[in-house]
Amino acid sequence: MRIGTIDKLDKFRAKCERQFKAQKKKIIVCLGPGCLASGSDKILDEFKSVLKKKKIKGITVETVKKTGCHGFCACGPLVVIEPEGIFYAKVKKIHVKDIIEKTLLKGEIIEKLLYTDPHKKSKKYTDYRSIPFYKYQTRISLRNLGLIDPDEITDYIAAGGYAALAKALTKMKPQKIINEVSKSGLRGRGGGGFSTGRKWATCAKVDDEPRFVICNGDEGDPGAFMDRCIMEGDPHSILEGMIICAFAVGSHDGYIYVREEYPLAVVNLQRAIEAARELGLLGENILGTGFSYDIKIIRGAGAFVCGESSALMKSVAGEIGEPRAKYIRSVVKGVYDKPTVLNNVETFATVPVIIEKGSKWFASIGTEKSAGTKAFSLAGKVRNTGLIEVPMGMTLRDIIYKIGGGIEEDRQFKAVQTGGPSGGCLPEGKIDLPVDFDTLTKAGSMMGSGGMIVMDERTCMVELARYFLDFLVSESCGKCVPCREGLHQLLILCTKITRGKASENDLDLMEKLSKVIQVGSLCGLGQSGPNPFMSTVQYFRDEYLSHITDCKCPGRSCRALITYTINDKCNGCVACISVCPEKAITGEKKKLHVIDQDKCSQCGSCEVVCKYDAIDIT
Ligand SMILES: Cc1cc2nc3c(=O)[nH]c(=O)nc-3n(C[C@H](O)[C@H](O)[C@H](O)COP(=O)(O)O)c2cc1C
Ligand code: SF4
Ligand code: SF4
Ligand code: SF4
Ligand code: FES
Repeated sequence: MRIGTIDKLDKFRAKCERQFKAQKKKIIVCLGPGCLASGSDKILDEFKSVLKKKKIKGITVETVKKTGCHGFCACGPLVVIEPEGIFYAKVKKIHVKDIIEKTLLKGEIIEKLLYTDPHKKSKKYTDYRSIPFYKYQTRISLRNLGLIDPDEITDYIAAGGYAALAKALTKMKPQKIINEVSKSGLRGRGGGGFSTGRKWATCAKVDDEPRFVICNGDEGDPGAFMDRCIMEGDPHSILEGMIICAFAVGSHDGYIYVREEYPLAVVNLQRAIEAARELGLLGENILGTGFSYDIKIIRGAGAFVCGESSALMKSVAGEIGEPRAKYIRSVVKGVYDKPTVLNNVETFATVPVIIEKGSKWFASIGTEKSAGTKAFSLAGKVRNTGLIEVPMGMTLRDIIYKIGGGIEEDRQFKAVQTGGPSGGCLPEGKIDLPVDFDTLTKAGSMMGSGGMIVMDERTCMVELARYFLDFLVSESCGKCVPCREGLHQLLILCTKITRGKASENDLDLMEKLSKVIQVGSLCGLGQSGPNPFMSTVQYFRDEYLSHITDCKCPGRSCRALITYTINDKCNGCVACISVCPEKAITGEKKKLHVIDQDKCSQCGSCEVVCKYDAIDIT
């Protein structure tokens, strides 16, 4: 069916809404990446198969709905019963029958599946909206995740989807759209934080054709999965944002560049593209307005540098994905040397809401210079890991303690890394900083695309810097010397520190080298490459010095600098002997065990299995 006019879209929406609302009960099974990894697809199938066999009035196979990531991945696999919002965590296939028989048929709550407050163990939450993890969030780019089936365009339309497109195409001139996006204060969510409206305005003014609108779905930052979840869980929001942008800048062709490691994102986006085309929302003569724009998916080969704008555009054109100098701007000469707007997934997903609700509404959320909200993937040593979206300006403390539930096992907070490999680590003294583009940059880190990794006292900051340097060395395209050689040398020196073989001169050398790399590199990878080192040495210099002068690793994680011994709490349970890969542990049953230091490779396996706190790490 093709929807040829705006009126017909409105009628179709009313039908979709009726269908959506008609299903009063919904059993929502999260099929986001985290839940899927722990078998949520099997849970979905089980619900369908039990419901097929059981005849329950008003509850059919259609009552079961799959959605993208619900956000609270730490509790997955998740099942939510709507409209009550009953939230069941860590659900297994064996719970399915119980959920149907008790909750759906008798309205009983299954206590053991409810989320329990980690601070007040007696407190259980029934409605997920009251769980602190959800309560403190404001969801704009993630608005539909956990609520709609990404494969059903009718779900997206019922949730208000494509209304912004209709408004943009019929009630707004291209310049008005650009003004609205500019006035909203929206800044690109892919890392740089450049004004989206200004980028669109520049492209629209370039006297050259054709123009292209591209979505950057490369998301190479380790630990980040916001873009992935939007692409997998709400693909139409990206398409809608891109079509609005294309109309505003006068483009008729576009691409979504998705990294190879996200096959489900490719499948869901492709299905969404086809469904939108079939309804006449994409392709020729969109909604009968005469405007045409189409989108192709391009798969990246998993190179971090291909997320950089100029490298991405080379890669789209089938060339080697190497960045080029920035004096040629992509909005002027982008893909195929033609004017191109490149925006991030989250940026595009936010656009329809701005068009619908207006720039004033968006600008009223967040801070003066960082409007709106930002999605983060909260990871590391925090209790509630997952996908979150908060108003800009919320403090790191509120994110980590209110939404994140604090540090695992009530350990001491040490630092938070924001901005991925290009970002930096902020110590406890900075935990009350508001999270916005400028504050984070001023503090020596950056917003980046939204990876947020929390560390506790057991993290070694030198090892962390070494990890990111190692990542960047292997991801550098090698085109320019400061990045290619400089980062490599930084890695060698940092590794020397983690092995207790460095001097203070090496640290000075690293600082000087970092400055050369920052100013001499061609693209953002090299320019920001030393950030993890620079920020850790700024805030955790003592830790570097302790590795250098005392050959000690305060985080007790640098293998070359730690010793494993067994203390007298050992009761000779022999659990450690069987896991030791080096056969370094000896001892008789029920007697104190010992570790042969010449054989021990400091792998840590014995500490993991010992239930009696008998392994000392010094
Ligand atoms: C090494 C490197 C990797 C990048 N990777 C990504 C990425 O994966 N996704 C992304 O949206 N932006 C990435 N960027 C930023 C892009 O170059 C570009 O600024 C962004 O896609 C523009 O969209 P925005 O204005 O909506 O943020 C990367 C930049 C650099 C230097
Ligand atoms: S800075 Fe690094 S990644 Fe960027 S162009 Fe130079 S060598 Fe390539
Ligand atoms: S696991 Fe712990 S208690 Fe058991 S033998 Fe090893 S050190 Fe001793
Ligand atoms: S740290 Fe690893 S190698 Fe060393 S004793 Fe324990 S299990 Fe064995
Ligand atoms: S994948 Fe299910 S909550 Fe994130």
